[in-house]
Amino acid sequence: MRIGIIGAMDEEIHSMKHVFDFYGQCLYAQTTFYEGTYFDQEVVLCKSGVGKVNAAIAAQLLVDRFQVTHIIFTGVAGAVDPSLDIGDIVISTSAIQHDMDASKLSAQYPQGTIPMFDHPSDFIANEHLIQLADDAAQSLGDVAVVRGRILSGDQFIADGELVATYHEQFQGSCIEMEGAAVAQVCYLNEIPFVIVRSISDKANSEATVNFTEFTKLAAQRSSHIVEEMIKKL
Ligand code: ADE
Repeated sequence: MRIGIIGAMDEEIHSMKHVFDFYGQCLYAQTTFYEGTYFDQEVVLCKSGVGKVNAAIAAQLLVDRFQVTHIIFTGVAGAVDPSLDIGDIVISTSAIQHDMDASKLSAQYPQGTIPMFDHPSDFIANEHLIQLADDAAQSLGDVAVVRGRILSGDQFIADGELVATYHEQFQGSCIEMEGAAVAQVCYLNEIPFVIVRSISDKANSEATVNFTEFTKLAAQRSSHIVEEMIKKL
């Protein structure tokens, strides 16, 4: 077993960089991959950079160059479910790309649908990893933990009305910029995955200020969950 772990930003991999035991690092496509162990598990950690393309490249490199058997994405997100607060946890049940939009081509392809037959658009996370993440999240104490759909797109959302529309349209729990791209790569390579996100903002008009203030706290909560998961995998 070898576990690939991806975060988009420094803050999202910072604490793991300090607790894992690393024995090597390599650079592919301008992305540094850190190989090591944690509680006798083989881990490969990387910072993908922001956005779906960066995330997909990192995930495919983890599969091709490091033969990872599982992928966990960790980081922060904007709340889409209005019951969620800053610092709360979302564990992916599935992930879709909200900015995939070929609806003008055909009514068969509503927004969020990848226009390919025999190819899903809502990528389903691995049940065992979901359960491990949920169990690990309980160690955070008094923090709300929900399982739900992750919405990913190449936009930072800071618009309360838009996020309310997305909630209705996609029934998502949170919004971010990478998860569903990693999920698609995992689907295509038959690799089990889960996305763990902690809420840094509510994707509304205060999102930019909140993101700056709460990213560190939220990123630490998410990586704490990943660290606990690895001990039990
Ligand atoms: N990641 C964290 N907050 C976000 C937001 N509001 N939109 C997109 N990605 C995010």
